[in-house]
Amino acid sequence: MQNPQFNLNNEQNKVKEKMEKIKFKVAVLSGKGGVGKTTVAVNLATALAESGYKVGLLDLDMHGPNIVRMLGQKNPTVDEDEIVPAEILPNLKALSIGMLVEEGKAVIWRGPLKHSAIKQFLGDTKWGELDFLIFDLPPGTGDEALSLFQTLGKMDGVVMVTTPQKVAIDDVKRAIDFVHAMNQKLIGIVENMSFVRCPKCGEKIEIFGSGGGEILAKEYNVELLGQVPLDPRAAKFADEGKPITLYLRQSEIEEEFRKIAEKVAQLVEK
Ligand SMILES: Nc1ncnc2c1ncn2[C@@H]1O[C@H](COP(=O)(O)OP(=O)(O)O)[C@@H](O)[C@H]1O
Ligand SMILES: [Mg+2]
Repeated sequence: MQNPQFNLNNEQNKVKEKMEKIKFKVAVLSGKGGVGKTTVAVNLATALAESGYKVGLLDLDMHGPNIVRMLGQKNPTVDEDEIVPAEILPNLKALSIGMLVEEGKAVIWRGPLKHSAIKQFLGDTKWGELDFLIFDLPPGTGDEALSLFQTLGKMDGVVMVTTPQKVAIDDVKRAIDFVHAMNQKLIGIVENMSFVRCPKCGEKIEIFGSGGGEILAKEYNVELLGQVPLDPRAAKFADEGKPITLYLRQSEIEEEFRKIAEKVAQLVEK
C-alpha cells in the first residue's frame, strides 16, 4: 500500500517546483459575481503580455469557467502526462476547466475534488518560466480561493474587483477580510462599470452610482488601480473571444486596462 503522506508531499513538491519558475502570482477576486473579475483577469493578462512579460492565466472558476469564451476556444494538450496550457499569444498561455469539459456541461464537484483539480493545474501543468501567473477566481470566499491560498502560501498580490455601488461594498469588505485572514496582500481595487460615456455628448453617465471604489481604497489604504468604463462593445467582444486590450485599440477602456496592468506590475515588486 502506498504511504498517503508520501503522496501528499510528492504533490506539494511538484507544485513548489512548478511555482518556483513563476516570478509573480496575482489573484483576481471580488465579493460578488458579475462585477468583471474575468474581464479584469483576461485584460490584465493580455496587457501584461503585450508589454513583453511572459504570462499565464489560470481560470479557477470551476462552475463558471468564462475565460474560454472570452479568449475563444483554444485547447490545451498533454505532454509526458502533464497538461500544456493553450497558447493564446506567443507569450500568453491559459488554462481553464472549461477547455477540458464539453461546452454547456456542468462541473459537479465538491470541495475536495476542486482542491485536487487546483493542485493539478498548479503542479501537473507545464507553465514553464513566467513573469506572471494570473488567477481568475469565483466570487467571494469559497473553496477555490481557499485552496489556492493554502496551496501557494503568500502570493504577490490580490486584486479586488467591484462595481461603484455602495451596496456592493458590504460584500467586498467580507472578501477583503478573507484576504487578510488568509495572510494575503491586497494590492488594489479595480472599479469596473464605473460609468458609460455618452456617445453623443461625451459626458460620463454613472449608471451604477459612484464612489464605491474610492471609499474602499481609502478605508483599506490601498490603491484604486483604475475605473473601467462600461462599454457595450466590450461585452460584445468578450462574447466573441476578443480581449478588449487586443481588439478595442485606442479606446478609453483599453487605456484604463493598460494603466491597471502597469500599476499591478509595479505593486507586485513592493
Ligand atoms: N467594463 C465593461 N463593459 C462592458 N461589459 C463588461 C464590462 N466588464 C464586464 N462586462 C461584461 O459583464 C459580464 C460579467 O463580467 P465578468 O468579467 O464575467 O464578471 P465576473 O467574472 O465577475 O462574474 C460579462 O458579460 C462581461 O463581458
Ligand atoms: Mg468570472
